Amino acid sequence: MHTPTSARQIDGARFRAVLGSYPTGVAIVTCIDEHGLPAGMVIGTFTSVSLDPPLIGYLPMKTSRTFARMGGSPSFCVNILAADQESVCQHFASAAEDKFAGLAWHPSPAGNPVLDGVVAWIDCDYASVTEVGDHYIVLGGVLDMALERDTSPLLFFQRGYGRFTPGPLVAAAERETIEAVQLAEIGRDEMEAVAVELEAECSLVAAVGGDVVYVATENRSPDFRLRSRLGLRVPCAPPLGPLFVGGPGAPGDAEWIGRLGRADQDTIDASLAQLERVRTRGWSIALQGPDEGENLEEMVALYSDRHRTPGQERRLLEAAKERAGLHEPADLPDDGRYDLRHLSVPVRDGAGRVVLVLRLSALPPGASLLQVRQWLARLQQSAARLEHTITARRARSPAPRLRA
Ligand SMILES: Cc1cc2nc3c(=O)[nH]c(=O)nc-3n(C[C@H](O)[C@H](O)[C@H](O)COP(=O)(O)O)c2cc1C
Repeated sequence: MHTPTSARQIDGARFRAVLGSYPTGVAIVTCIDEHGLPAGMVIGTFTSVSLDPPLIGYLPMKTSRTFARMGGSPSFCVNILAADQESVCQHFASAAEDKFAGLAWHPSPAGNPVLDGVVAWIDCDYASVTEVGDHYIVLGGVLDMALERDTSPLLFFQRGYGRFTPGPLVAAAERETIEAVQLAEIGRDEMEAVAVELEAECSLVAAVGGDVVYVATENRSPDFRLRSRLGLRVPCAPPLGPLFVGGPGAPGDAEWIGRLGRADQDTIDASLAQLERVRTRGWSIALQGPDEGENLEEMVALYSDRHRTPGQERRLLEAAKERAGLHEPADLPDDGRYDLRHLSVPVRDGAGRVVLVLRLSALPPGASLLQVRQWLARLQQSAARLEHTITARRARSPAPRLRA
């Protein structure tokens, strides 16, 4: 049997503790009051309500003086705070007389303050204001809205602030990264020798926490770039990282294919064929596309940031999927000319597991197949020597693993 809400006793501290276990975003709801002054309050109860018609909602306390001032405006603007705007939130939550002093903002189309640096803003008129307990439920009809910044929002949880961190494997990945960097140290001489000899960029790449990470790199190509690839990472997802699939730090075959997300059978078959080709050949090749450049580099840089957003992750996965045809082409005609993005060979430990990949990039365009084969042979020579060294060192000190 249900007790009527009014007759129920719930301890306030428990109510706050239980509800505080549910995280929220943080918004500043703003308007221009009847005196022409900007007003704003911190709101954690902001939510999306309806798409058709477009409605949002939030719950101000009945006692809020700021909300009382909002009554002087026919519209309001919801400002969604970014993860680096905790100080803005604290300023608005404080007893400061003028909450806008020293803050940069510009008017929204409806004339309400949009604070500089917010993730997004939503201009609304009042669809309804309903009294519920000690709060109102405000429903706002969306007038206009925009995304301002491609960055993570500020989060509020158990009365503390934080930010979204992607991936469940972060802690494990840190240990794996250190191990991979230690392994790459062993391969540094071979890597540098290849870069010097071929006047190209040579890198050691490892699988860490389901990503493919550049753990060492040496660039001796004439088109030397200021931005090093060191620390850059991409997801080990089709068509990327096939040499690692099934090995330590990398997804297995089914998981790798699963990372295509919703894909048609043709795409799945093409990815399986790609994986099979790499395993048969024992090496991996990716060709340069006609439209690659800054955009792709930027996507990789964003993905490599610890604080990447799920949107940035999805965009890189999509871009990689679209370029699948450039990876592991089935036919490599003898008389072809090849613009290589990279050429890669596996480095295995004594147990035959792929622990590193030796990768050649920043190569001159228009290479003949003979030239490609020579590059490949040189890479394989270094990889074989490196495998020998790794196996020998592990035999001497068999447990170089760090404690979890
Ligand atoms: C993270 C956070 C979330 C908040 N969410 C709300 C909310 O959803 N509704 C509300 O009325 N007050 C909320 N507040 C409190 C208000 O910011 C503020 O205390 C309220 O506007 C009362 O102050 P005033 O009388 O100066 O307006 C929140 C405060 C913080 C720090």
